[in-house]
Amino acid sequence: MTLVYPGSFDPVTLGHIDIALRGAKLADRLIVAVLDNPNKRTLFTVNERVKLLKDAFRDTAKIEVSSFSGLLANYVELNKANAILRGLRNAGDFESESQYAVCNKMLSEGIDTIFLPASPHYAHISSSIVREITLVGDDKHLKNMNIPMVTPATYAALLAKKSKGER
Ligand code: PNS
Repeated sequence: MTLVYPGSFDPVTLGHIDIALRGAKLADRLIVAVLDNPNKRTLFTVNERVKLLKDAFRDTAKIEVSSFSGLLANYVELNKANAILRGLRNAGDFESESQYAVCNKMLSEGIDTIFLPASPHYAHISSSIVREITLVGDDKHLKNMNIPMVTPATYAALLAKKSKGER
C-alpha cells in the first residue's frame, strides 16, 4: 500500500514526523508531499522544506519526500497511491479535514483519507506556532523549542531565518 502524506510543512515539526513514522508502519511506501503553492507566502521555500523533511527521514527507507502543485487528488492518482494520510490534533482539525477528505474522494477515483490522532505530547504543536516563537521569541523561548517541537536541523534553519530577518 502507498500512502501520500501532504502538507505545507513550513517547517516540519516533531508532530508531522510522528504522524509520518506511524503512517509508514501501515504502508509499504509513504510519500511526504510538500505543497508548492506560489500564491501562499511561506517562511521556507519549497526546496528548503523538502530538504528539512529529507533530513528528518534519512534513515527511514519506506519514506520518500517530494513536492507537488495543483490538486492533491491529481498527485495521488499520478503516484498510484491507495490513500491520503493526515494527522488530527483536535476537533477543529477534524472539522476541516473531514471536509477535505470528502472533496478529495470526489475529485479522485474514490481515494480515501486515513486519519491518525496526534500523539498527546505533540497535539499542541503547529508550524505556525513554531514560526511565531521564532520570529517574536527571545533566546530562552527559542531554546525551549529545540527537540520538544522541532528537530535540531529545523531549529538551526529557523535560527538562520531569524538572523537574516526573514519572515
Ligand atoms: O499543512 P497544511 O497547510 O494543513 O496542508 C494543506 C494541504 C496541502 C493538504 C491542502 O491545502 C492541499 O491538499 N492543497 C492542494 C490543493 C487541493 O487539492 N485543494 C483541494 C482540496 S479538496
